[in-house]
Amino acid sequence: MTETKKAQIGVTGLAVMGANLARNLARNGYTVALHNRSVEKTDALLAEHGSEGDFIRTESLQELVDSLESPRRILVMVKAGAPVDAVIEQLEPLLDEGDIIIDGGNSHFPDTIRRERALAEKGLHFVGVGVSGGEEGALWGPSIMPGGSAESYQHVGPLLEKISAKAPQDGAPCCAWISTDGAGHFVKMVHNGIEYADMQVIGEAYDILRSIAGIEPADQAQIFAQWNETELDSYLIEITSKVLAQVDAKTGKPLVDVILDQAGQKGTGLWTAQAGLALGSPVTAIAESVFARALSSSNPAARQQAQEQLPAGLIATTGIAAGDPEFVEDVRRALFASKLVAYAQGLDLIARGGEEYGWDLKLDTIASLWRAGCIIRAELLDDIMAAYKDQSPVNMLLAPQFTSLMEELVPSWRRVVAKATAEGVPVPVFASALSYYDGLRRDRLPAALIQGQRDYFGAHTYGRIDAEGAFHTMWSGDLSEVNAADIHVH
Ligand code: 6PG
Repeated sequence: MTETKKAQIGVTGLAVMGANLARNLARNGYTVALHNRSVEKTDALLAEHGSEGDFIRTESLQELVDSLESPRRILVMVKAGAPVDAVIEQLEPLLDEGDIIIDGGNSHFPDTIRRERALAEKGLHFVGVGVSGGEEGALWGPSIMPGGSAESYQHVGPLLEKISAKAPQDGAPCCAWISTDGAGHFVKMVHNGIEYADMQVIGEAYDILRSIAGIEPADQAQIFAQWNETELDSYLIEITSKVLAQVDAKTGKPLVDVILDQAGQKGTGLWTAQAGLALGSPVTAIAESVFARALSSSNPAARQQAQEQLPAGLIATTGIAAGDPEFVEDVRRALFASKLVAYAQGLDLIARGGEEYGWDLKLDTIASLWRAGCIIRAELLDDIMAAYKDQSPVNMLLAPQFTSLMEELVPSWRRVVAKATAEGVPVPVFASALSYYDGLRRDRLPAALIQGQRDYFGAHTYGRIDAEGAFHTMWSGDLSEVNAADIHVH
């Protein structure tokens, strides 16, 4: 009697991301058991790509579980939220101690923490894996951010590393254990937050170049292609050039002019902003990019009415000649500076998340995982990786290589924000990133006044520059009485 061949990994949920990861695993030599709620999807995948590797067709979760070698590894690729819980609930009674459920979706990290805990109590491993790179990445090599017990990583790490993107600089896999429970999904969430900000700053640069320097999309496509040869070199700049070059087949217009200007979102940017608020990490560029999408799409009627009704109040400034190369260079630098802030803020949030949730997060490793495969892959990540390898800057911008870059970027950044503001072109991320930068480097912030106000109306106390402890003032309209009545609270 021949023993039936067992699969090394099972994949349930064969929509495009699941299907492509399954194909990637099979192409890399693993036997992959396939399962989908409706078997038609499994059959369609096998009909089209069955010859790419060793697949085992299954019709039920029981069959999927039975087809796997021990400890079982099951990659769940269903929609984040309730569907993940539903699959876990069905799988759990079918599994044995030591088996591993891997969630490769964009799950919210608190859910991952909760699921890991619940399954650990039952002797099962739960690995929350952030996967970035879209459909193509899933198929040819994504960036992978796994979180879960160190023991479970021993079983899933080699497979995930094998199918991940490899950094062209050193061939290292863009996959490494992040830390326990929700750490992988947390880091992927912040990746997406940075992605939102990166996309928004590119959008703002495009809008400025179009509205102020009069550069049409086809010409901007070339500018973005040139920018991709500079330190801005990145996947998002590259695809921007392609999107701007695209002509609409129906109208002959630039496609970007035909696309409705209302941005969608699935929630990872929002979660990043929420985490920033909850952890007191000022991810202003990321939050503004989420709000910019909301402003574009949440209330079209208000936008319509505002366009007709609200005065522009523009301020006269020096004119910019059409296509002025100096101005274009200013915009490039402003974009780069704003992007640096978005990364600095995202990494700060990751560091705070690590402290809050007890994850020992290595920022240089995390930066290294983003060098290839993912949506925010960029040349800049080499420098970020180096900055955190050699030192531990308290803020990315304080690593000497970034501080010296700022020297050349900031004047351009100020000119562009001032010009855009004068001309009524919205630049929420350019401007808020610049304010963050100035806030960080400011000697005295008006926070002192806020503390005074808080103490005035609520006796919330304040600290002093010249003494330890908390102070409260017996506020009075008569200034002469105020100082005498200061009390040291504790
Ligand atoms: C990636 C992407 C991917 C996806 C997000 C963002 O890293 O591969 O971030 O996860 O595109 O869902 O999508 P939204 O813009 O719709 O939120």
